[in-house]
Parts: sequence; structure tokens; C-alpha cells
Amino acid sequence: MSMIDVLWCFLAFCFFVAFSIHGLCEVGPGERESGFMYVLFQDLIRYGKTKQSLRRSAWLRVFDVPKRWFWHFYVISVCWNGFLLVLTFNCVYVHQPLPVWLTAVLEALTGVPGSHSAVPRPSTILLQLLLFIHSFRRLLECLLISVFSDGVIHLAQYAFGLGYYIVLGLTALCSDLSAKGSDMQDWLLLLGCAVFIWASLLQHRSMVLLAQLRTGKSGTVETLVHRVPNGGWFELVSCPHYFAELLIYVSLSLVSGGLSLTWWLVVLYVFFNQALAAQLCHELYVSKYESYPKNRNAFIPFVL
Ligand SMILES: NC(=O)c1ccc[n+]([C@@H]2O[C@H](COP(=O)([O-])OP(=O)(O)OC[C@H]3O[C@@H](n4cnc5c(N)ncnc54)[C@H](OP(=O)(O)O)[C@@H]3O)[C@@H](O)[C@H]2O)c1
Repeated sequence: MSMIDVLWCFLAFCFFVAFSIHGLCEVGPGERESGFMYVLFQDLIRYGKTKQSLRRSAWLRVFDVPKRWFWHFYVISVCWNGFLLVLTFNCVYVHQPLPVWLTAVLEALTGVPGSHSAVPRPSTILLQLLLFIHSFRRLLECLLISVFSDGVIHLAQYAFGLGYYIVLGLTALCSDLSAKGSDMQDWLLLLGCAVFIWASLLQHRSMVLLAQLRTGKSGTVETLVHRVPNGGWFELVSCPHYFAELLIYVSLSLVSGGLSLTWWLVVLYVFFNQALAAQLCHELYVSKYESYPKNRNAFIPFVL
């Protein structure tokens, strides 16, 4: 297993463990509020609205960063992944080799020697392009559509988010180097693109519905409270935008040929990460709103 595979395995495992521990902690609500380790753990896994009910001491609040800074992640992603896309494009179509520093990083992450002479597959350019489009759309949504309250994230989560898209861009190139088998098959490419478009529309529609909970008909912000989301896929799950995120990563794996273990490990990480966030959000809605629909799942319609 290469270093990049170990990294994504580790991240997926961390969120799997966090998801499991959170489930176990829910069994003993009497001890929930008191233990220091419990509060520290919850402080690290929660953010935004799911953090508001957590009773934290003043020193823990020192690490709070505004959640409205989410757009910083996408600026980094657009710049970095756009840059890598140009480098890869030049390598494939203009025959300019990748820079030495980049091939050295890729060799260290994959353990595959000779990456300086390897030419990325066209499907990797498509993967990078879709990643760029996804990040750019999310940036626009953060800046132009979403209405943020005074919710916070932990400084560690913020730092993680900043590094996340850097590593993700490198992972796209690593998965190219370590992919087994031939390049993309037409049906996988079409399926991947179709899922990407559909999931992006689902996520965008969900973000619009969330924003409309706080705006009037003219689009002006009327409140910053959290309300029960309705309409669209919110009728099926509490967090359709998290489900859409998972589908987007699955679609990226499909367009890159579906044969890269590395990218499927990224999908596994996104699954546990978003499952945890969806579970916390669902529990909040169920506990806060008496009339919350009983038939709604948290994350995946009819399943989870
Ligand atoms: N790939 C990854 O590792 C990863 C990690 C995290 C997030 N994401 C993606 O990033 C996107 C945003 O995630 P998020 O966790 O920030 O989503 P979120 O908590 O649902 O927030 C999205 C927006 O909706 C608002 N909002 C949320 N619930 C609301 C409610 N009940 N009533 C009114 N407004 C509400 C939020 O305002 P507030 O300011 O009040 O929260 C925020 O402006 C998602 O699509 C997610 O999939 C990806």
C-alpha cells in the first residue's frame, strides 16, 4: 500500500471510529454533558448548528473559527486544482513534462518510480476538471447563495479543510499513477458524468432550499435561526447535500475508470465523514423539533 492510500485509509478509519464512538456515547445520556473527554471529542467532531447545544468551557471557545469562512477551502481548491489541471493538460497535449518538484511529491506519495516520464491519462484530466467545477460551484454557493449564521468550526477542522483540497488534488494525480488496467471505458465515463451532473444539481438545489429558510420572497435575509428544511430531497433525508457530496465523489471515481483503489479510499473517507455530519444534524432536528417527520432518514434515502 502506498503512502497516499495509507493516508486516506487512516482518515476513513478516524471518521468511522468517531461515528462509532458517538453512537456508543448516545447510550448513556446521563454522563453526556459532564466528562471532559466527551466534550473535547464532541468539540472536534461537531461544527455549526450541531455544536450550539454543546456546553463548552471558555478555553475551548478560543479555538472557534467562523463557519462562514468555509469559502476559504474552495478558494484554495479552485486555485490549486486549477493549477494542477493546467499542468496535466500541458503534459498530455503540449508534451511539457510535469515539474520535477511535483513528480518527486507524487513518487513519494505513491512509491511508483519514474513518474517524471509518465504521461497522465486523459481520464485524469476529466477528473481534475470535474473537481475544479465542483469547487468553483461550491465557492459561488458560499459567497452568493448560502446564508450563514454565527456558527463556528474548530481551528483544527479549519486547518484540516485548508489542507484537504491540496491533498485531494495530489490524490487525483496519484490515482492516475497507481490505476491498474486500461483507460476509461465509454459507458463508465458517461455514467460518471451523468451522476456528477445529477448529484451537483441535487446539492445545489438543497443549498438553495436551505438559504430560502432564511430569506424572504425578495431574497433579503429575514432570520438566522435554524428551521426544519422541507421540499426536494429533504422530504427523504435530513441532509441531501451530504448524500449528493458522496455521489459526486463516486462519480469522480467512475470517470477516472473506476479502477483506482486510491480514489475509492477517498470515497470511503467521504462516506464516513458525511455520515457522521448527517447523523449529528439528524439527531439535532429530531430532538429540537417535535413534529420532525419520522420517516426521514439522516443521510441515504431509505437506508441510513
Ligand atoms: N468533502 C468533505 O469532506 C466535506 C466536509 C464538510 C462539508 N462538505 C460539503 O460542504 C457543503 C456544506 O456543508 P455544511 O456542513 O456547511 O452544511 P450545512 O451545515 O447544512 O450548512 C449549509 C448552509 O445552510 C445553512 N443551514 C444549515 N441548516 C439550516 C437550517 N436548518 N435552517 C437554516 N439554515 C440552515 C447553514 O448556515 P449555518 O451558518 O447556520 O450553519 C449554511 O449556510 C455540503 O454540501 C457538504 O457536503 C464536504
